Amino acid sequence: MTALRFCATATLALAISGLSATAQQFQNHLMPQPAKISIGSGGLALDSTFAVEVPGVSDARLTDAIDRAVRRIEMDTGLRHAGRGEVGKTKLVVKVDRPSAPVQSLEEDESYALVVTPAGAEIDAATEVGAMHGLETLIQLVQPNGASYFIPAVTINDTPRFRWRGLMVDCARHFEPVAVIKRTIDGMAAVKLNVFHWHLTEDQGFRIQSHVYPALTGKSSDGLFYTQQDAKEIVAYARARGIRVVPEFEMPGHSTAWLFAYPSLVSGSNPDGVRREFGISDYAIDPTREATYTFIDRFLTEMATVFPDSYVHIGGDEAPAPDWKTNPRILAFKKAHNLKDNDALQAWFNTRILKIVARLHKHMMGWDEVLTPGLPKDVVVQSWRGEASLSKGAKLGYKGVLSAPYYLDAMKPASVHYLADPLPSTSDLTPDQRALILGGEVCMWGEHIFPGTIDSRIWPRTAAIAERFWSPENVRDVDDMYHRLIPISVELESLGLTHIQSEDAALRELTGTENIDALRTFASVVEPVSFSERSETQRTSQLTALDRLIDAVRPDPPARHWFEAAVKRLLADPKGDSADRAVLAAWFTTLSDAVPAARQQILASPRLAEASTRADQLLELTAMGQQSLEYLASGEKATSDWKAKKNQTLEEIGKPSALVRFAVLPTFSDLVQAVPE
Ligand code: ACM
Repeated sequence: MTALRFCATATLALAISGLSATAQQFQNHLMPQPAKISIGSGGLALDSTFAVEVPGVSDARLTDAIDRAVRRIEMDTGLRHAGRGEVGKTKLVVKVDRPSAPVQSLEEDESYALVVTPAGAEIDAATEVGAMHGLETLIQLVQPNGASYFIPAVTINDTPRFRWRGLMVDCARHFEPVAVIKRTIDGMAAVKLNVFHWHLTEDQGFRIQSHVYPALTGKSSDGLFYTQQDAKEIVAYARARGIRVVPEFEMPGHSTAWLFAYPSLVSGSNPDGVRREFGISDYAIDPTREATYTFIDRFLTEMATVFPDSYVHIGGDEAPAPDWKTNPRILAFKKAHNLKDNDALQAWFNTRILKIVARLHKHMMGWDEVLTPGLPKDVVVQSWRGEASLSKGAKLGYKGVLSAPYYLDAMKPASVHYLADPLPSTSDLTPDQRALILGGEVCMWGEHIFPGTIDSRIWPRTAAIAERFWSPENVRDVDDMYHRLIPISVELESLGLTHIQSEDAALRELTGTENIDALRTFASVVEPVSFSERSETQRTSQLTALDRLIDAVRPDPPARHWFEAAVKRLLADPKGDSADRAVLAAWFTTLSDAVPAARQQILASPRLAEASTRADQLLELTAMGQQSLEYLASGEKATSDWKAKKNQTLEEIGKPSALVRFAVLPTFSDLVQAVPE
């Protein structure tokens, strides 16, 4: 598979740079990094399965979590699973101080201590959730040791930096089956995220069953929705893994699905179906009728029986609502209530909804548009339009969650997301205001994803962001993060996520053959363009097939950072006897050798043909890479127009084409710029 093959190259590079593993030596692959770790000597040999002791609180939730962890270690190490009644001899103690609350809250104590010695491993935690985090760390510690495996001797005292570490998944624009949600939750648990924010309603579909208002899914889901039983199963599955489920029901905008099903809620004209195109809709729920609040009250009351979390997200974003400016009845209402504009009317609406949410003993959350004058202080503001709204909210006394820098559909490298901090040390907030920043949430919007591609958009980049939310602020070494991202990515795949294999599967599907070696080599250096670039170029709707090269390839492919790091080392001593030079030259040859066969397959596939230019461009890139290496090695100056020509070529290759871009382009440019002239 691509990543494993690529790993071989990366391992080679690591070996060259002196980082190769030696027996019994601790390799820190932990992601997220713990708050405190000290390394002992030797470790716990994994030559038998576990003898587990649970001396503190013990219930099915904890023992199931321990069972799952033990099975995963057995799978990762070739240990035979102990049969019924049979006990291994590797000592594992999991001690939990107190029973968990029936519904996990923001106040859950998630800390744990993990001590591993040659005699055994012990996890001590205040709550089961802390113990689960400790078990995930234990799994990540497992390392090979010659012919067998061991867990290095360590003492870890760990606690999260932020209480709210979320992933939002939009399952409304494109529906994601229960199995996809479960594997996503498994991935979240592996990297210690603790909030699954479930975006369930959109203009394009209503995805949660209501018995009170059956037309919501009856008319507005195309038959693709979660039954209440499905949703309860997901909530239980998440709870079993220490993860809260916060549902989002969009109102008053992004609401075509509500309005098509129940036209009594509309502000103006009736929609004639759910919306297929994406973007912002003019339809909005009518905030001026009492019947609207009766409807929403009954709906949210029903949903409270499915979603026990104490937070409910009401959306609130992107509601231009032109009918609120023209409908005489709504204009009269605004006048009577002294509401000067749509923002004031939406604030009035939010206040009414907040009363319903409060009556259900819940807190309300909304996207940052809800931050308008008069918003009650109990509302949590999710910042998506920029980081400024987070600190603005905190200064006004609102709790906040940061999402603006964590939009996965921007197709940015993991490093860019990783370095964005919800609460940087440079922040001018006071200690009280800082305490209002609850954490951050990664956002996976649904326009351009389906079950075949969602994993590669979320993972492994979300693992790096999860570290930002969990680990101390000063854990910011990008090279070290990427070094740890490959093992966590492989671990996530072993949990059932498909982010690595899905690229190969898509390339096989596009070409109708298993013989994709050359095409895979080409694909290893290209990535999808951003959401906005795709939207500008391809008029996508819910009905667009997501089956092009852009859908096959992965954002931030491993080759990108590996290449960047190798070139950085090379350029630090361009004439030195650099092993990196040899590895890079060999890699350029591998890439260019793949082009003829890849081009042939690209041209033979109607859905790939548009990418043939990209294949030709890869030849140009590798040729300029080889030439740059030669110039740098000899110290010879390039001819006067060489660099100008190469820069022209780089500019051409940087232009949009086939909805994919070369993830390695900036580093090819670095090489060219370093050539003396
Ligand atoms: C959003 O991205 N409209 C919250």
